[in-house]
Amino acid sequence: MTYRFKTGLKWSSVTPKMDYLNRRQLLAGAGVMAFGAMAGPLMAKIATKPSSFSTDEVPNTLEEISTYNNFYEFGTGKGDPAEHAHQLTTDPWSVKIDGLVDAPGTYDLADVIKGVDMEERIYRFRCVEAWSMVIPWVGFELATLLNRVGVQSGAKYVALETLFRPEEMPAQNSRLLDWPYVEGLRLDEAMNPLTILATGLYGEELPNQSGAPLRLVVPWKYGYKSIKSIVRISLVAEMPPTTWNKAGPNEYGFYSNVNPEVSHPRWSQSSERRIGGGIFAKRQPTLPFNGYGEQVAGLYDGMDLTKQF
Ligand code: MTE
Repeated sequence: MTYRFKTGLKWSSVTPKMDYLNRRQLLAGAGVMAFGAMAGPLMAKIATKPSSFSTDEVPNTLEEISTYNNFYEFGTGKGDPAEHAHQLTTDPWSVKIDGLVDAPGTYDLADVIKGVDMEERIYRFRCVEAWSMVIPWVGFELATLLNRVGVQSGAKYVALETLFRPEEMPAQNSRLLDWPYVEGLRLDEAMNPLTILATGLYGEELPNQSGAPLRLVVPWKYGYKSIKSIVRISLVAEMPPTTWNKAGPNEYGFYSNVNPEVSHPRWSQSSERRIGGGIFAKRQPTLPFNGYGEQVAGLYDGMDLTKQF
């Protein structure tokens, strides 16, 4: 991993989707060297296939996606991750996979993604704080990895854990949250084809502040389920603890499905502000399951989602 994102922005930093697509055509036609000469140092490109799961909404710019973040290990301000996450060493990186799996072990990231087809998945992303973005992730289905390591029959949930390295993640020296950041999914949620592990965005490796080198993306749930910089994935029988549920059980449930009808105790979830729309942009209504209800509502048949929020 050679790519480090500090404050210098890249070609795509101010590039909405059309320019981005044009640039890709340019790359295909003119050859990478010519473009490299034009644009300065070449970043690590990731070969991707488009995905039928993508939304056709216009993605936010790389600048928006990588300068307005939540990554509490680097501070609580939206700009803190962009300012500080370059301190994080993301290479070498390994992921421990354990619990109820046939092939437990500590795997090099290169082995985790070896031979995996990377897709571009343009997803709506809805934060519990009632803002949203559209993000062109590069990633692969979590199910692909789980099937590779072999899920045993007793497994009912997947628990995920972020790196704990206070030397590089300064807020881990405080008691802001109960570190390391942990999250979890029910096994059927984890296996759903919408659930991906992302390694990049806008066709390049993830900026550190976005959760490099490997982060979860679950587009029908509030953003805090999408745990960053993952070092451990465990298949377990019981519902695992999750960071925000531990911090505020009345405010953050395990499921955390985007639900405009269930307010957060301190604010409504019925509408959202799309980042980049400007201060006069109209708020837009939030959709149940963030608009992915057709694919996932059935996972919750028979559940009262006002109680199991
Ligand atoms: N993962 C870790 N390890 N630490 C965090 O603080 N914040 C979560 C989630 N994953 C967080 C995390 C929250 S609250 C949100 S909204 C999303 O990351 C934000 O992702 P983004 O910064 O890529 O938009």
